[in-house]
Amino acid sequence: MERENILVLDFGGQYNQLIARRVRECHVYCEVHSSDMEISKIREMSPKGIILTGGPNSVYDPSSPHADQELFSLGIPVLGICYGAQILAWQLGGKVATAPVSEYGKTETTVDTTKGLFKNWSGTSVAWMSHTDYIETAPEGFEVTGHTADCPVAAMQDESKGYYAVQFHPEVVHTDEGKKLFDNFVFDICGCKGDWQMTSFIETTVAAIKEKVGDGKVLLGLSGGVDSSVAAALLSKAIGKQLTCVFVDHGLLRKNESEEVESVFGNNGLFELNFVKADASAHFYSRLSGITEPEQKRKIIGAEFINVFESEAKKIGAVDFLAQGTIYPDVIESGLGKSATIKSHHNVGGLPEHVNFKEIIEPLRMLFKDEVREVGLELGLPPYLVYRQPFPGPGLGIRIIGEVTSEKVRIVQEADAIYRAEIDKAAKEWSAEAGDRTLPPWMPSQYYAALTNLRSVGVMGDGRTYDYAVALRAVITSDFMTATAAPIPWEILNHAADRIVNEVKGVNRVLYDCTSKPPATIELE
Ligand code: XMP
Repeated sequence: MERENILVLDFGGQYNQLIARRVRECHVYCEVHSSDMEISKIREMSPKGIILTGGPNSVYDPSSPHADQELFSLGIPVLGICYGAQILAWQLGGKVATAPVSEYGKTETTVDTTKGLFKNWSGTSVAWMSHTDYIETAPEGFEVTGHTADCPVAAMQDESKGYYAVQFHPEVVHTDEGKKLFDNFVFDICGCKGDWQMTSFIETTVAAIKEKVGDGKVLLGLSGGVDSSVAAALLSKAIGKQLTCVFVDHGLLRKNESEEVESVFGNNGLFELNFVKADASAHFYSRLSGITEPEQKRKIIGAEFINVFESEAKKIGAVDFLAQGTIYPDVIESGLGKSATIKSHHNVGGLPEHVNFKEIIEPLRMLFKDEVREVGLELGLPPYLVYRQPFPGPGLGIRIIGEVTSEKVRIVQEADAIYRAEIDKAAKEWSAEAGDRTLPPWMPSQYYAALTNLRSVGVMGDGRTYDYAVALRAVITSDFMTATAAPIPWEILNHAADRIVNEVKGVNRVLYDCTSKPPATIELE
């Protein structure tokens, strides 16, 4: 690989993606590969540095993954993190054993600030620990560069050989000075320049798409989500009208979303491409009529989505490529298969089986979400689209408890639009008051209104009402696998509730969901 890069070898740790992201944040390209990647392939890639990730195993267990010993004679700097640090210690002749005290969580760690990884560190600071084994004795030639109360070798190095190791996790935000460690490793130790920019990504990817597609035709399923929208913009820049985007409106989108997608990608939109919109709302509502079980709803929506997409695709005829908005976390999560916890995928319907195409094209498959967003902005997509919060494929279908009807969709769309607008407004005001671009501490990662199946008695004017209860949800999460309910200030919730009952016909009660995940999930169904 010509481009300067760092290689992350994955030993199954849950933070492996974060490591790669931290390196990319230094503007250095980085790929995650399985720990058993062949040495010849590593040579071919010619990384400026190699990072060995954490993992759930014990190095002294013969069945656990180890590094190819040749890795240590490539003359490339190696940084071991957690299990990766133990691998370095163990395979280079040190001792690793079960720690008398396992450390977990924020731990005061003292490091030698004159040593490579710790330049600009403050000496003693908080680092995130999560280990039951520890390095008892560093290998010969190594010097210990960090320790904690219970961990005698929290960091070590052999500068002459380019080996560095830390028992803690510099990649997680709970390690206060973790970013400096990555800066020190990639720039000072590996000698990277840091020239990985999204503008150059766009240039090289556009050229690569042109070459691959030639004068062929490309079909893309556009959902209006961030990934498929950015993929559409990128493909359009490369091949213009050779691209056809099919947008299936299943009638379960948020308020105005369908119109927004059309205004950006439609005939009078911002991009040169063929836009096909299938307005299938009525079809979906009829298929969902009488269905109340959540998984059954998901299955119907997924299957119908593919059906509608395929019938639109048939009208276009044979295409050469089917494009997808796959991004790097999807690749890592489904491809390497080593991480102890793998997020389950909720893709709508899966891949169409009856579309006639030769090859799949995935222009964003090496990018993280924040990079995809950057590319989107660079390509001129409106910020509201680029910063959309996650929205499930089955859409409002799983935010309406019980049977889906067009009337319930209207109610939840209206309530949700009000709630999101109030949260956004309050967040903007908070930031303006703070005088910078920081977000309020209660800022949720995902927030929406759902329609419960509960109807209850209320009073409005002089009359009795018997209407629906809307549930407001807002969670703070970094990985969507666990989440806490966001502590939205009362005035905001109260004001949103007032507006919803006053402005949305059919609602007389608003509830706030205070549960974390687990035991609840983020969506109500
Ligand atoms: P849960 O409800 O499982 O949600 O805690 C975790 C994240 O996944 C999204 N989600 C879905 N996304 N199809 C999707 O494309 C689905 O069926 C689905 N269910 C949940 C949810 O919005 C949250 O971001």
